[in-house]
Amino acid sequence: MTITTLSKPQTASIRRTGEGSAVAFGPASLSNLGPGFDTLGLCLAGIGDTVTAVMSDAPGITVQSSALLPLDAAKNTAARAGQRVLEAIGADCGVHLDIEKGIALGSGIGGSAASAAAGAWAVNMLLGAPLAKHEMVDAVLEGEALASGGEWHGDNVLPALFGGLVLTSPLDPSDYRPVSLLRPLHIALLLPSLTVLTADARDILPARVPFRVAVENASDLAFMIQTLTTGDYETVGVYMMRDRLVEPARSALLPFFEEACAGAMAAGAWAAAITGSGPAMFALAPDGHVAREAADAMVRATAKHGVAAQGVVTTPDFRGVRAA
Ligand code: HSE
Repeated sequence: MTITTLSKPQTASIRRTGEGSAVAFGPASLSNLGPGFDTLGLCLAGIGDTVTAVMSDAPGITVQSSALLPLDAAKNTAARAGQRVLEAIGADCGVHLDIEKGIALGSGIGGSAASAAAGAWAVNMLLGAPLAKHEMVDAVLEGEALASGGEWHGDNVLPALFGGLVLTSPLDPSDYRPVSLLRPLHIALLLPSLTVLTADARDILPARVPFRVAVENASDLAFMIQTLTTGDYETVGVYMMRDRLVEPARSALLPFFEEACAGAMAAGAWAAAITGSGPAMFALAPDGHVAREAADAMVRATAKHGVAAQGVVTTPDFRGVRAA
């Protein structure tokens, strides 16, 4: 297992809400970004989940939330990640987590990952922040796996932990690297009022693909990373928008997919795609005005198909999980 530190190990800035409590914010994220299935994710500014951790008498983790989440600690991503942090620290105390969801369940912008990262960070802060972020990678990956039918993938939870654009290996998600973005990016988000559970969206993926398709997708991911790292965003869409492994299966669930992509591109976006398991989509744009136009165009496309949606404009977040 290779552990790559994204930056200088960060220690938490501790904010206590009262005696024995700490609050963490876990950001939303885009994942896959076209051909980067389980490999590439980007942290998003301004949207996320908040987890409050308080000391409790019974050892282990307990959970509450006003959202419809599993409250069994063995099935909750924040609780599982928090439990692993307790174990890594060697603490035998009890912690109660209160999860406030800013990200709708099953939306495609990394809600389970945001909660896992915030749960881990809140527990760490509660105990005086002994762990740096790179020491919590396995904890958040294990928490996030609960939302994916047990499969470990880091393309939401590692951007949520570290911020920025992150590459992670599907062979070993704890092998990860930051990808620098040379120029500013603006992001249009389409958040349809539909729910797609990650585990279900993984079940519909093809078990086998033709050799040629695998080769072309691998090539497109390499070219796409090159456009991102060189700031050649004008051509990123060529590679981002022809994924043949995952998007064909998942876009079949989204009747507005083609029109939403076309609308965003007509508005001046550089690229548009499904994020994660959907139903959310995103478009990359040169400025906030184009991002707004692209978001509005995508909302109009879903409306034509009788699906209500919210259009949101944001930018990358480079800080990742933090004290709220
Ligand atoms: N890479 C994952 C998927 C992200 O597309 O299934 C889901 O959160």
